[in-house]
Amino acid sequence: ETASKEGYPHFMIKEIHESPKAVRDTISSLVSDLDVVEKISEEIRQAERVIITGAGTSYHAGLYFSLLLSREGLTAIPLVASEYYNLKGRKGDLVVAISQSGETIDVLLSIRKLKSEGAKIVSITNVIESAIARESDYKVYMRAGPEIGVAATKTFTTQVATLLFLYSYTFGKEWKSLKEADKEVEQAINLTEGFTKRIGEELSKKASVYYLGRGLSLPLAMEGALKIKEVSYVHAEAYPAGESKHGPISLVESGFPVVFINDGEMPELLKNNVMEMKARGGKIFTISVNKKIGEADTEVFLSSKFPVLSISPVIQLIAYYAAVSKGLDPDKPRNLAKTVTVE
Ligand code: G6P
Repeated sequence: ETASKEGYPHFMIKEIHESPKAVRDTISSLVSDLDVVEKISEEIRQAERVIITGAGTSYHAGLYFSLLLSREGLTAIPLVASEYYNLKGRKGDLVVAISQSGETIDVLLSIRKLKSEGAKIVSITNVIESAIARESDYKVYMRAGPEIGVAATKTFTTQVATLLFLYSYTFGKEWKSLKEADKEVEQAINLTEGFTKRIGEELSKKASVYYLGRGLSLPLAMEGALKIKEVSYVHAEAYPAGESKHGPISLVESGFPVVFINDGEMPELLKNNVMEMKARGGKIFTISVNKKIGEADTEVFLSSKFPVLSISPVIQLIAYYAAVSKGLDPDKPRNLAKTVTVE
């Protein structure tokens, strides 16, 4: 291994700490390549449907993007790449393929099928001229640098930053302020390292945990659950917070941990869900940005212009510390590979 941990005990924590730089480099590369951004924006605006495909963590970034687009009235379809056979592409479709490695076979197969049916392809990858990039009509590169830890960290944050940039540019939102986004990421890491360590330690002792969120926080809840499951082997499930009362709540009893992701959009509605869980003895953790929920056993609170970019490293730190406090190596979780090239 030529890569070095540079004094950090693991690549995962080193790479979480590299997230601000990764976001800075990614945004400045987009700003210096506005011609491509403009072309993709036109494609998004003209598309009859935008299909967003990815696997694992990259799928969660895609789900986030699909919510941004559908809130603007676009027909946006998030597609778990390995389920590509359920969707028939057609002319007028734009596919946004998201893949850190650019080599995931499921993503490759999904774009090949949709392309053969008439779709145009935009790829967002972290590896120049990767297989997925080569088969795309438009290529966007995240500038996260190499990621050694098997569980995606800084690359997820840069994916979301890239998608937020594309969205903001396309819909005439304030994209220039994203040039400062790295500061929000840095602040989130610096302010929460103590909290996340304690939460991670606590969750590591549990058999199971729920991650709940509404709206744009749902993909983050899903990513938070995936991350802790991957590296600490704590069973974790994510649900839309309002949906949790339709089944999942039956498991909640004294001490059952529930992590709420609150990006500040719907704190009052989330508070109702917190109360429901509390009433059953649930142990409540809230990760809140800009607006508090209150009522939690532990509330992490941040102010941020870009809630998604601030929450991303926080859920990763929680997973990291959960793994470490169980004595596990978060860089090499069992049964997982960094890049999956079999179907
Ligand atoms: C593997 C990795 C995940 C990753 C997924 C998609 O399953 O273990 O961490 O999210 O592949 O990888 P990609 O390179 O396409 O983003």
